[in-house]
Amino acid sequence: MKSFDNVTIFNHPLINHKIAILRDEKTSMKEFRELIEEITTLMTYDCLKEGVPMVEKEVKTPLEVCTQTVVKDNSIAIVPILRAGLGMVNGIHVLFPSAKVGHIGLYRNEETLEPCEYYCKLPEGIEDKLVLLVDPMLATGGSACDAIAMLKKRGCKNIRFMAIIGAPEGIERVAEAHPDVKIYVSTLDRCLNEHGYILPGLGDAGDRIFGTK
Ligand code: PRP
Ligand code: URA
Repeated sequence: MKSFDNVTIFNHPLINHKIAILRDEKTSMKEFRELIEEITTLMTYDCLKEGVPMVEKEVKTPLEVCTQTVVKDNSIAIVPILRAGLGMVNGIHVLFPSAKVGHIGLYRNEETLEPCEYYCKLPEGIEDKLVLLVDPMLATGGSACDAIAMLKKRGCKNIRFMAIIGAPEGIERVAEAHPDVKIYVSTLDRCLNEHGYILPGLGDAGDRIFGTK
């Protein structure tokens, strides 16, 4: 795969360990959901290591008063791409419980693999926030590209996209279409099959999170 300045592929030992369990077809729905959340929390730690709006706050320790930087209130929004992105929301909420959540509903047409929009509700003021767009699967990149375009149309200027598993063609498509968006992927898989599924992948993430099909 080409290399891009706006793409980070984690390949972190702790995340890889969890992804092995996530991929396993025998992993239960409960464990699958928990792993998605845990991996998301680990990814968020790195994804937010720079460029986060911070303010100074005075804190009184048992010994003295000091000034400490903290994340600015109301400065981060989470936007899952429905359905599977929903599974990642709690993994960020454990770090920022008050982050507002917007929802973008997209499903892939099974024949054309093109995304179809069916829902969009975004928190007020999202254009001034750091937006964490989340979806566990980045396959052809169509859904991520459309979701980013929808956010930009609403005025969002600071968007980071997190996916757990990415295919090379999807990562390239999003990176080229949106060079201003930072893309974080836990693991780079081999390719897509003829139905647009990631190989080796983990199957249909939405079905495995919600127990459908
Ligand atoms: C899956 C996944 C992504 C999309 C990725 O959703 O969660 O949103 O496919 O594929 P792409 O990169 O080729 O667009 P799906 O459309 O299956 O909907 P679901 O989450 O409701 O199951
Ligand atoms: N969506 C999924 O849930 N899995 C894939 O492999 C590709 C798209």
